[in-house]
Amino acid sequence: MVLFGILTLLAILALFLFLKLIFSWWISPILRNRMLHRYGFEGPPPNFPFGNVLEMKKKNGVDSSFGSSKLTHDIHSFVFPYFSRWQNSHGKVFIYWLGTEPFLYIADPEFLKKMSTEVIAKRWGKPNVFKNDREPMFGKGLVMAEGNEWVYHRHLIAPTFSPLNLKEMSSMMVESTKKMMDRWITRINSGGNLEIDIEREIFATSGEIIASTSMGIDDENARTICEKLRTLKMRLFKTRYVGVPFIEFIDIKRTIEAKKLGKEIDKLLLCIIETRKESKVERKGRVDLLDLLLDENENYGKRLSTKQLVDECKTFFFAGLDTSALAISWTLMLLAMNEDWQNQLRDEIKDVVGDKELDINVIAGLKKMKCVMNEVLRLYPSAPNLQRQAREDIKFGNLTIPNGTNMWIDVVAMHHDPLLWGENVNEFQPERFMGDINGGCNQKMGYLPFGFGGRMCLGRNLSFMEHKIVLTLLLSRFRFKMSPTYIHSPSIMLSLRPAYGLPLIVQSI
Ligand code: HEM
Repeated sequence: MVLFGILTLLAILALFLFLKLIFSWWISPILRNRMLHRYGFEGPPPNFPFGNVLEMKKKNGVDSSFGSSKLTHDIHSFVFPYFSRWQNSHGKVFIYWLGTEPFLYIADPEFLKKMSTEVIAKRWGKPNVFKNDREPMFGKGLVMAEGNEWVYHRHLIAPTFSPLNLKEMSSMMVESTKKMMDRWITRINSGGNLEIDIEREIFATSGEIIASTSMGIDDENARTICEKLRTLKMRLFKTRYVGVPFIEFIDIKRTIEAKKLGKEIDKLLLCIIETRKESKVERKGRVDLLDLLLDENENYGKRLSTKQLVDECKTFFFAGLDTSALAISWTLMLLAMNEDWQNQLRDEIKDVVGDKELDINVIAGLKKMKCVMNEVLRLYPSAPNLQRQAREDIKFGNLTIPNGTNMWIDVVAMHHDPLLWGENVNEFQPERFMGDINGGCNQKMGYLPFGFGGRMCLGRNLSFMEHKIVLTLLLSRFRFKMSPTYIHSPSIMLSLRPAYGLPLIVQSI
């Protein structure tokens, strides 16, 4: 009798679980999709349980590279061939599905502007489907936080990135860059012309920079963390079926490896934070983001727990390392293609910097260099898309975007849209940003390298500073030329990176 009771209970529980799964994976997405259709949004037909993922994975005749002879900056249909195709049949706003999750695709800045004016920053969510998937990378750090939790973290962290605080960090950037340059000089001196995989080298140096500026981490630990981050990213983004039910169990090896790597990084960071908390001794008089964060934490009413501090430090690494390293790498590629701009920047460096020490005040005068960075981030945005999830019904005009709708904002598409930028959209023309922070784009929200609204990137001043310091030092000492071995194949691995590295010929000046 008791056994029968237990079995009945288990059967009811199983039925309940089954119905819950059916509801959240089938019925609820279909209801949301119907509602979006009712408001006029269409899109490619999905198949249960993959949605449109299988079609997104197909190559569909797109070559894996442009080849070195066809070096074009017209990259949207190459990096996002499926979005480019669907845009042709469904316009710049449509619905597509990742597994059982419908997403509203947006490549229309006017639509984005109208929608985002209806939502205050703390009411924006980040898609739950990515939160679970990216947990080993960002934990519950600022990039993924929402609501009052986000407001509190952002208020606490933002002051650490003030220009006054960043001033302290220029010497660390100079030091790491000079170490890389010494390595290059030794190699050049022993063999003349030199081909260097710029992406790998800059990634290592940016890793040292972010490690020392964020947590005062020494080079060896920095290398360990950066390598683990790189592997973690490969595990998470190589073959992806996000949104497909039970995928984490089907691809169990990947899930376990990613979690393990995430935990190892947490452990290293935890150890650094604990040591720092215990030793109140000032280290060589240098201040880094962790010092500032711990100070803010002391002075703020409610404090961040150690786990929250670990997540925030991890976020600095993940949000700051790849993005900055890629911005510098793509810049060197574009300068190698445009020697005239290389020379213009060298002249500017001579005029503005001369023999002065590199600090935040001196580099503020490098106006052309800033235009170059803006143009590089337009053509090759390190963060190629932005994601949101509605946490309430969003009403504007005669539209309603229902609570829970995921959104995918295609930054690459907007940055390469001739209707927004004109016919020269795919040309490298930094002068478009001279005296115009929006680069002549005819829509305010058509240029979004650092995101938008209250959730705009916190590290942008730090990355401008790093970009200027690294470039000033490199251009003063080296000339860059394209290498015949370079294969142009920008590809998405969370960020926009050169799939086969970025070999350039580096010559001493
Ligand atoms: C070229 C370099 C960089 C680019 C292109 C970039 C781009 C972005 C973008 C697109 C976002 C998302 C904004 C949104 O969802 O609307 C973001 C957020 C963020 N970035 Fe950056 N970033 C860069 C460098 C950095 C650095 C160096 C750091 C810190 C060390 C950093 C820290 C953050 C943080 C903490 C957020 C989350 C802000 C929030 O949600 O409130 N970023 N970044």
